Amino acid sequence: MSATKKVKVGVLASGSGTNLQAIIDACEKESISAEVAVVLSDKEDAYALKRAEKHKIPHFFVNPKNFSSRENYNKELIRILSEHEIDLVILAGFMRLMSSVFIQAFQNRVMNIHPALLPSFPGTHGVRDALEYGVKVSGVTVHFADEGLDTGPIILQEAIPVLENDTEETLHNRIHQAEYRLYPKAIKLFSEGKLKIEGRKVKILEGGS
Ligand code: GRF
Repeated sequence: MSATKKVKVGVLASGSGTNLQAIIDACEKESISAEVAVVLSDKEDAYALKRAEKHKIPHFFVNPKNFSSRENYNKELIRILSEHEIDLVILAGFMRLMSSVFIQAFQNRVMNIHPALLPSFPGTHGVRDALEYGVKVSGVTVHFADEGLDTGPIILQEAIPVLENDTEETLHNRIHQAEYRLYPKAIKLFSEGKLKIEGRKVKILEGGS
């Protein structure tokens, strides 16, 4: 990839898409050399699709009910992403496990963000589970996705202290603020070719932060 070519990002989101927004903003401010080229959702009413529309980004609701298996659903996602010549897939609150056909199609080019310090508290309720466990520190993890549930090699993490009176909402709000910094940063490192995967470890090459 030449230094001038922008990384084409495809974002998959099921919900409000505030991470998508942070990534779009970073692209538009040109603080990262990337463009969101397509947004896909498994939920017709996902606000993420509206955000894409506002920014004139191609966006599609891909209804899982129209597919006989997870694999066939994933194949359709691959088809649309490939049609848009996507270099990097960003899972931003996409509430589905990706099948191996998808992970292999975009080998080492799928990232996920999780609202806890993995490997603690994987799954749908990372914030709530950490709070209920009584941890004093939680945080954010950006990682490459594999077939497992939040199990892929970790790219970046940031710790967030849990406060005495935190609710799931207040803690998630602070976690979100860190997410908006971390996800664009991970995309920037990827676009600069500074992420090197060695087994479970992701090395950040010199000049990366
Ligand atoms: C984020 O907290 C992310 O860590 C988790 O899902 C949430 C998505 O939020 N995977 P949003 O849709 O980006 O606002």
